[in-house]
Amino acid sequence: MPAIGPESCDLFENAMIDNHQTTLVTGVAGFIGFHIARSLLDKGDRVIGIDNLNPYYDISLKKARLEQIISHHNLTFYHKDINDLGALKKIFSQHHIDKVCNLAAQAGVRYSIQNPFTYQESNIRGFLNLLEMARQFPIKNFVFASSSSVYGNNKKLPFAVEDSVDTPISLYGVTKRTNELMAYAYSHLFKIPLTGLRYFTVYGPWGRPDMALFLFTRSILDGRPIDIYNFGKMKRDFTYIDDIADGTISALNTPFSYEIFNLGNSKTEELMELIKIIQEELGVEAKKNFLPLQPGDVPETYANIEKTKKMLGFNPKTSLRTGIRKFLAWYKDYYKIG
Ligand SMILES: NC(=O)c1ccc[n+]([C@@H]2O[C@H](COP(=O)([O-])OP(=O)(O)OC[C@H]3O[C@@H](n4cnc5c(N)ncnc54)[C@H](O)[C@@H]3O)[C@@H](O)[C@H]2O)c1
Repeated sequence: MPAIGPESCDLFENAMIDNHQTTLVTGVAGFIGFHIARSLLDKGDRVIGIDNLNPYYDISLKKARLEQIISHHNLTFYHKDINDLGALKKIFSQHHIDKVCNLAAQAGVRYSIQNPFTYQESNIRGFLNLLEMARQFPIKNFVFASSSSVYGNNKKLPFAVEDSVDTPISLYGVTKRTNELMAYAYSHLFKIPLTGLRYFTVYGPWGRPDMALFLFTRSILDGRPIDIYNFGKMKRDFTYIDDIADGTISALNTPFSYEIFNLGNSKTEELMELIKIIQEELGVEAKKNFLPLQPGDVPETYANIEKTKKMLGFNPKTSLRTGIRKFLAWYKDYYKIG
């Protein structure tokens, strides 16, 4: 297994076979990017992965995800930033890339209030760089991560792609909506097939340490209180990672001139239900710290997925309890909790 460090993992060139599609997955060391890359590799496709391994959260988790796939002969990994246009040009010149799956971004609603410029860099500039690459190099499809955050304070439930998204309430949501608008213009001007996927609260094994399920699990196991915002009056459409990977790969295989889809479970769950299931599965009662709603946060998300079902054959299958069980099994194994 090659060591994966910022210095040593500049480039992993592995042997490749020629009769499969090649997908560029940006953010490949991230939660969703890792799962999608692994599914594509399992299907026999080639993956060019890019990630800047930034320290937004524990880099060792990003490296551990990479270690799961790095030795695959169909993966080529570049430790690069999507803001580096020169590096992108080199990668697009060296490889025949059929599809782009852009997942690299600065994620997180709350962090965007304290650190706005990192959102502009990765989410706007980095995205523009990739659009420019798709303009210069012929590709068959370009799929990118948008977010349920574009709906902001939309009061109409469930959220449908036809709903107005002119009132996002976080800079993160603004950058994701901006991506959708940039994609529309590029698809119109340069005939690049572009599809945006509005992900709804994705969770599962290898998940993100800044998200509720991970934070709650860690605090409960450490005996520390969990922070429960809006005094528990929150609802989220939690969507299991395998369902997200299936929907994303279906989008990669189905080029449209321009489309936006919701990828959610289409079942909105009370935050207190999530906590109840974690407590039951761990057999530990959480110490609870009830707090007001955080700026930028919305009280409820709920995806209307009729269009996604019809046009992408999307069919999320994983219940919240099953998904939490799988997450907890991974968490205990990864952190060696007896
Ligand atoms: N997880 C969710 O619930 C959720 C919901 C809605 C949208 N999304 C979107 O899905 C995508 C993936 O999210 P995730 O949960 O896997 O997040 P993540 O933070 O785990 O993954 C993002 C990866 O991108 C990399 N990255 C960030 N900026 C980069 C840059 N400039 N150049 C190269 N690499 C860079 C990071 O190092 C990280 O490994 C993001 O675009 C996110 O905004 C996620």
